[in-house]
Amino acid sequence: MSEVNRVWRLVKRPVGMIEDDVLSFEREPIPRPGEGQFLFRLNYLSLDPTNRIWMSDMDQYMPPVALGAPMRGVVCGTVTDSRHAGFAAGDVVSGIGTWADYQLGAPPVLNKLSAVEGIPTAEAFGLFAVVGPTAYFGLIDVGRPAAGETVVVSAAAGAVGSVVGQIAKIKGCRAVGIAGSDEKCRSLAELGFDGAVNYHKEELPLALKRACPGGIDVYFDNVGGDILDACLGQMNLNGRIPTCGLISQYNAAGDVPGPKNYPAIVMKRLRVQGFIVLDYAARYPEAIAALAQWLRAGKLQFRVDVRTGLENALPALRALFSGDHRGKLMIHVQ
Ligand SMILES: NC(=O)c1ccc[n+]([C@@H]2O[C@H](COP(=O)([O-])OP(=O)(O)OC[C@H]3O[C@@H](n4cnc5c(N)ncnc54)[C@H](OP(=O)(O)O)[C@@H]3O)[C@@H](O)[C@H]2O)c1
Repeated sequence: MSEVNRVWRLVKRPVGMIEDDVLSFEREPIPRPGEGQFLFRLNYLSLDPTNRIWMSDMDQYMPPVALGAPMRGVVCGTVTDSRHAGFAAGDVVSGIGTWADYQLGAPPVLNKLSAVEGIPTAEAFGLFAVVGPTAYFGLIDVGRPAAGETVVVSAAAGAVGSVVGQIAKIKGCRAVGIAGSDEKCRSLAELGFDGAVNYHKEELPLALKRACPGGIDVYFDNVGGDILDACLGQMNLNGRIPTCGLISQYNAAGDVPGPKNYPAIVMKRLRVQGFIVLDYAARYPEAIAALAQWLRAGKLQFRVDVRTGLENALPALRALFSGDHRGKLMIHVQ
């Protein structure tokens, strides 16, 4: 075991894109577990759009990371020392931790990773920790899709979006994805999506009309902004919009305009509902069981984009905003 703990600390709040000087990479002593805690070594660090939210001091669903504190992250690691009766060296844990080689943990923030036979750790962590439950509860509970309806999802080739589209297909819906390149749109066809729109290349309202001739019943919103506006304009009566995320706005330095098609919410009697996956924590086993079964049955494909080295976490995080990644982005640490 290395004697040094490498820790990324937040030293500055980002304005616009996350620049290199927002975090500093420190070398510190390895902490020792107190009574009721365990020490674990980081194996995988999940990189998530919400990292950008946590770095800021905007009004959010958790306290922002304090300046000077270790950067918060969704983590997966192996227990190396334990003073908690429920955990022993060798246990694989996951939950909310920090961007550090060694960390202290305890439930309920960190728990044993739901190990599912036949699913490798990176895939299990990537799918079950956040992404899969977000897609599952966001689409099924919030979006309430009925067979035969048209479900549109943005950031469709990304981690959450790709799972949303595949669950929509499993539920008997027509799935249409919006993504940022022709190559990503082709990958959606391979996942069974019925249609795809490249928002960088095509005029969105026209392209959506072509891809959704019967209108949109459920728009699963991962991005907000102009894409939300275009989808609002094509919603069917009693349509649903699960608002999962607003990645197009996370790096905005100032105010962002509201949607021009806001009146559609009244005219079409839409239900627009935001949600945070943490609120579904008690029901995670339901989502994990369903996702694992679909994965094993070949009905669900899940792609992970694993980069190497904790030292590369900050530049890798930016790939979420440029779209330069394929599938669930994470860092393999050790
Ligand atoms: N509510 C919750 O509890 C919850 C939980 C997890 C995630 N989320 C949200 O879900 C969304 C997707 O997260 P993820 O982890 O699955 O990430 P992801 O989709 O794997 O990666 C982000 C993708 O967003 C797209 N994107 C980036 N900037 C954009 C822009 N300005 N306009 C349009 N698209 C843009 C890029 O795809 P293209 O190349 O196609 O542009 C990029 O690949 C995020 O908004 C995130 O905050 C919410």
